[in-house]
Amino acid sequence: MKVVAFSGSARKDGNTAILVREIFKELVQHGLETELVQLASIEIKACLACYRCFENKDQHCSVEDDELNQFIDKMLAAEGIILASPTYIGDVTSIMKALIDRAGMVSRANDNMLRRKVGAAVAVASWGGAIHTFDSLNHFFLIGEMIVVGSSNWNLGFGREKGQVLQDQKSLETMRTLGRNMAWLLNNIHTEKASR
Ligand SMILES: Cc1cc2nc3c(=O)[nH]c(=O)nc-3n(C[C@H](O)[C@H](O)[C@H](O)COP(=O)(O)O)c2cc1C
Repeated sequence: MKVVAFSGSARKDGNTAILVREIFKELVQHGLETELVQLASIEIKACLACYRCFENKDQHCSVEDDELNQFIDKMLAAEGIILASPTYIGDVTSIMKALIDRAGMVSRANDNMLRRKVGAAVAVASWGGAIHTFDSLNHFFLIGEMIVVGSSNWNLGFGREKGQVLQDQKSLETMRTLGRNMAWLLNNIHTEKASR
C-alpha cells in the first residue's frame, strides 16, 4: 500500500519536505510505501478551462506537454495522497494550485476517480495564513469524495528559513500523530476490503 505526497514548495528539501518526511517515518513503520514528489523546478501549467477532460474521460488532462499526467497516475496508483504546501501570501503556492485545479477537474470528469482514497493536508508558514492554506488543500480532498485524516492539531508547521521547522517540536509531533492515524486508517480500510 502506498502514500504519495506532493510538496508545493519552490525550495527543494525545505520545511514542507521536512514535515512530510516526519509523517513518512510513521507510515513506513506501519508497513506503508511512500513517495515524495517535490514540485520545485517543475512546471505545471495552469488549467485552460478547455473542459476536454469531460469529453475524453480518459483519467488524464488534455494538456500533455508537462508532467501533470504523470502526477495523476501517481495519485491513481496510491491508496493515500498528501498535499503539502508552504503559505505564499496567505494561500497555497501557485504550482500547488495548478496541481489541485487540473488533477481535481480530471477527477471530476472521470466520476470522482480518486473517491475514498485517504487524503491529508499539511501547511507551512513563517508567521500567518497557514490555516487558509490548510483549508485550500483540503478542498481538493473534500470535493473529490476522499476521506480526510487529521491529527491532534491542525497539520501546520512554522518556520521561515529552510530547516527552521525542526525547532517546532509541536508541529513535528502533530506530523507523527498524523502519520500514525493515516497508517491506522489505511491498514483498517484495506483489511476490511480484503475480508469482504
Ligand atoms: C512568495 C512568498 C510568500 C510568502 N508568504 C507568506 C505568508 O503569507 N505567510 C507566512 O507566514 N509566510 C509566508 N512565506 C514564508 C514561507 O511560507 C515559509 O518560509 C515556509 O517555511 C517555506 O516553506 P519551504 O521551506 O518548504 O519552502 C512566504 C514565502 C514566499 C517565498
